[in-house]
Amino acid sequence: MASNKRLLVLPGDGIGPEVMAEARRVIDWMGRRRAVGFDIQEDLVGGAAIEARGTPITDATVAAAKQADAVLFGSVGGPQWDKLGFAMRPELAILTLRRELGLFANLRPALVLDPLVDASTLKPEVVRGLDLMIVRESTGGIYFGEPRGVETLPDGSKRGINTEVYTTAEIERVARVAFELARKRQGRVCSVEKANVMESGLLWRQTVTALHARDYADVALSHMYADNCAMQLVRNPRQFDVIVTTNLFGDLLSDLASMLTGSLGMLPSATLGAVGPDGRRAALYEPIHGSAPDIAGKGVANPLAQILSFAMLLRYSFGLEEDAALVERACTEVLAAGLRTPDVMAPGCRQASTEEVGAAVVAALDRLGA
Ligand code: IPM
Ligand code: MG
Repeated sequence: MASNKRLLVLPGDGIGPEVMAEARRVIDWMGRRRAVGFDIQEDLVGGAAIEARGTPITDATVAAAKQADAVLFGSVGGPQWDKLGFAMRPELAILTLRRELGLFANLRPALVLDPLVDASTLKPEVVRGLDLMIVRESTGGIYFGEPRGVETLPDGSKRGINTEVYTTAEIERVARVAFELARKRQGRVCSVEKANVMESGLLWRQTVTALHARDYADVALSHMYADNCAMQLVRNPRQFDVIVTTNLFGDLLSDLASMLTGSLGMLPSATLGAVGPDGRRAALYEPIHGSAPDIAGKGVANPLAQILSFAMLLRYSFGLEEDAALVERACTEVLAAGLRTPDVMAPGCRQASTEEVGAAVVAALDRLGA
């Protein structure tokens, strides 16, 4: 067996543990059948960690994440923790990991698989064959900018403050990730901001333009205001190949883009840091969907986004393209065979539980990997 890769698994809250259990079956299969072995450590984050340890993520968990070759994350949050103060929110777990591991490039693909072309609320002719990648900056911008907070004014009323800040270096490093990805795809990058109203947006545009001229002239670059981009994503999503944008706009646009594909339950994501001097790159993989407390514990959650996040992990952290493609093919086969969780249910398909879909993916892997 090849030397083991270190994986930190963080299932989190809500449907996180359920869908992660199915991803674990696929991980086990990789070890058994493809000699892709992992040393797995599992830990609590989010609401689960608040209950057990009084904090959404401990320093020890952050340290373990730094030690690991890759982190596979589930989802965090739930209504029972909504009233806690800002320093105690389950979401702090993922925000802390992004910040502490320097995970600045959040890759969010929106891919319409053929068997799911009817699951989209848009017309099939608009979304068929859609394959776009949003590269969202994820350690800067208004999520982390200072000053921030709520202050009390002399008259007793309050003032809430958040700050959008980007430096040249922050813009360049995320734009590089987008240009490099585009070279392996259709060779087109659309950079998205609000340069018409925001100084930081104007700097973003100028910086991306200069970097492009300097190092990536072979890639086709266009620019778009974020509001227009939202409109264009619904009007004609296939005009895009790679979109690169700020933290907040990327948060909004990636939710929008995910629904072009029919279900949030289908989409994985990768969040990458810089390549260090030792050649290692911090990386975290998670489904785009949240913890979905309304369906947690019912066995109806779609495990495919979590399983596809593991496929991205194989590809981006370990260069195991063939194994990644195998997992993706197995997921597509299960959908094509008509075995579906309710979120992607269609006429003529059979409704299946989270576990049944996971088992079917493993069975498809057995067939395909034989
Ligand atoms: C996401 C989520 C997070 C974000 C939340 C949970 C903090 O919406 O990953 O898109 O806003 O970044
Ligand atoms: Mg979001």
